Amino acid sequence: MNTHVITVLAGDGIGLEVMPVAMEVLEAAIEGHDVRLEWREQPWGSDYYRQHGRMMPTDAITTMTATDAIFLGAVGHPDVSDVETLWGMLIPIRREFDQYVNLRPVRSFSGVRSSLAGDPEIDVVIVRENVEGEYSAVGGRSYQGTPFEAAHQQSIFTRHGIERITRFAVEVAQGRSGRLVSATKSNGIIHTMPFWDEVVAEVVAQSDGVQLESVLIDALAARAVRSPQSIDVIVASNLFGDILSDLVAGAVGSIGIAPSANLNPEREHPSMFEPVHGSAPDIAGRGIANPIGQIWAGAMMLRHLGHDDIATGLEEAFTAVLERGEVTPDLGGSLSTVEVGAAVIAELRRRRA
Ligand code: NAD
Ligand code: IPM
Ligand code: MN
Repeated sequence: MNTHVITVLAGDGIGLEVMPVAMEVLEAAIEGHDVRLEWREQPWGSDYYRQHGRMMPTDAITTMTATDAIFLGAVGHPDVSDVETLWGMLIPIRREFDQYVNLRPVRSFSGVRSSLAGDPEIDVVIVRENVEGEYSAVGGRSYQGTPFEAAHQQSIFTRHGIERITRFAVEVAQGRSGRLVSATKSNGIIHTMPFWDEVVAEVVAQSDGVQLESVLIDALAARAVRSPQSIDVIVASNLFGDILSDLVAGAVGSIGIAPSANLNPEREHPSMFEPVHGSAPDIAGRGIANPIGQIWAGAMMLRHLGHDDIATGLEEAFTAVLERGEVTPDLGGSLSTVEVGAAVIAELRRRRA
């Protein structure tokens, strides 16, 4: 029996609603296979913060090191500062485990109407740098409460960081159309971006079968809504990749279906799988959150753990459910989170029978 130990961090808000549904779906997906998922559920997040003054215990990273993957819902609560929730949990996990790739596939499904006129076919993979760039820890606030009050943050781009994310993106592009778009802002305003362009171009020049196009981020945002079909794989810095992933997912129809894999490709540390969306306080507690982003992230986790066949079966099952229009209100449907999960489980079992 192939056993994988999974750290489960449901977190906050709708994370607490979509996570149990996704876990049940994954259990159904592995039925009949020689695989066991041993869930290690941790109560870390904003409730934990209110009780203990921190988002997770001091030995949390060590505790997770011993597990094969991390399955995260979302963190963020209106009553706790995002500074605490993010720097106290999400960001340290990405960094301590050197999860420098944030892989975000976004695609349309027939049955899910695009938010864009003409209902275009969208199939884009965003390869987002995940541990440096604009999200550096260097910075802060000063002179608070005085007229000189200021905030500053230093973007840090390293050759090593740009090279490795580009190499990963090149491999993704080679496995698809070979077309790679680099999101940039190199018109001299942002000092780091000409460096990004140089290193990206060098790495691509050493690779076979990839055509590189560098596109300014503002124009790329417009192109992503005007002609998303012209984009296949995007390599982007931390902040640009973050914004583009919600933009393209919104264009497909809802950010509720988009998954993300925070990968340590060398597998020296556990990788983390989570939906692209956050804790959605505006709909939390109503049972209507779309669980597909979490379920799809679960499929990416199964693929990472070596179970391509199970992952593909699960993707086919939720695709069929989406195509039948069995969806939550964000996609115009009337099903609850739990009902969508049940529909995916029923589809998995029907296909197996
Ligand atoms: P959000 O992604 O939580 O929500 C944005 C909008 O999309 C909301 O209207 C929400 O209702 C909707 N939405 C999101 N997921 C949905 C789903 N599964 N089904 C249906 N509708 C969905 O972003 P936000 O409101 O800007 O942020 C809320 C909190 O989440 C903040 O504290 C933020 O820092 C945090 N956040 C955390 C993560 C993470 O844990 N990885 C990611 C993004 C935001
Ligand atoms: C995401 C989120 C996070 C990010 C926030 C919550 C720090 O938006 O995972 O996309 O920007 O990385
Ligand atoms: Mn985001």
